[in-house]
Amino acid sequence: MQRRSDSPPVEARWSSVDDYVTGLLAPHDAALEAALSAGSAAGLPAIQVSPPQGKLLQLLARSIGASAILEFGTLGAYSTIWLAKALPEGRRLITLESNPAYAEVAQENIVRAGLDEVVDLRVGPALDVLPELHAEGAGPFDLTFIDADKESSPAYFDWALDHSRPGALIIADNVVRDGSLADPESDDPKVLAQRRLHEMIAAEERVSATTIQTVGGKGYDGFTLALVGQP
Ligand code: SAH
Ligand code: DHB
Ligand code: MG
Repeated sequence: MQRRSDSPPVEARWSSVDDYVTGLLAPHDAALEAALSAGSAAGLPAIQVSPPQGKLLQLLARSIGASAILEFGTLGAYSTIWLAKALPEGRRLITLESNPAYAEVAQENIVRAGLDEVVDLRVGPALDVLPELHAEGAGPFDLTFIDADKESSPAYFDWALDHSRPGALIIADNVVRDGSLADPESDDPKVLAQRRLHEMIAAEERVSATTIQTVGGKGYDGFTLALVGQP
């Protein structure tokens, strides 16, 4: 399609489309709106998933009938709220956050959303909390959303795979990183980790996966989606 020379820069159009889709298909309810306002008032970085992405996570959780969800990286619980609302009565979401100040904001947002019986927020570096979860017999999980420190995504994927039921989804955010994913010369530890994640998944017979590039209000990035237990 011909781009009109007077049309806005491409990034502005990505954001406009996100806003358009959000308005019609992924509008905020009061809980999501309050979570974002509280996060921004508390100075949290605005790095949560976009509304269309939050809605996608919710639809994926609903479409597989997820009843146990694990999330790495809570921030202010924005993605947490999208996901928790996909759960049927009595089911749980465990979310892991290393920053105590963020976790405090997140817990307030979870309570305000009426989800404190659903969401179990654990504070501490995920790699320290995972052995505790294992010892408690947590899981198996139906959906895992990996969205914490990007260097550790391969380790989180590994743990999630060992704690997933057949038919589960494991979704990793921020894998494309402005296209750096395909740059074999990159020495950015976050990029190297996403390349390692892809190589791990390629060699892993327990999952079938793909990566989808995304543009939108958060720029150019993408996510990996892996289905457990199907060739
Ligand atoms: N999933 C959120 C955004 C998460 S941002 C949303 O879309 O709404 C990434 C979060 O991971 C930050 O809050 C950061 O503090 C947290 N984080 C960073 N390192 C971590 C670690 N080692 N363990 C757990 N959380 C970590
Ligand atoms: C960052 C983290 C995210 O999870 C994200 O989606 C975008 C940016 C960050 O740490 O900058
Ligand atoms: Mg992210």
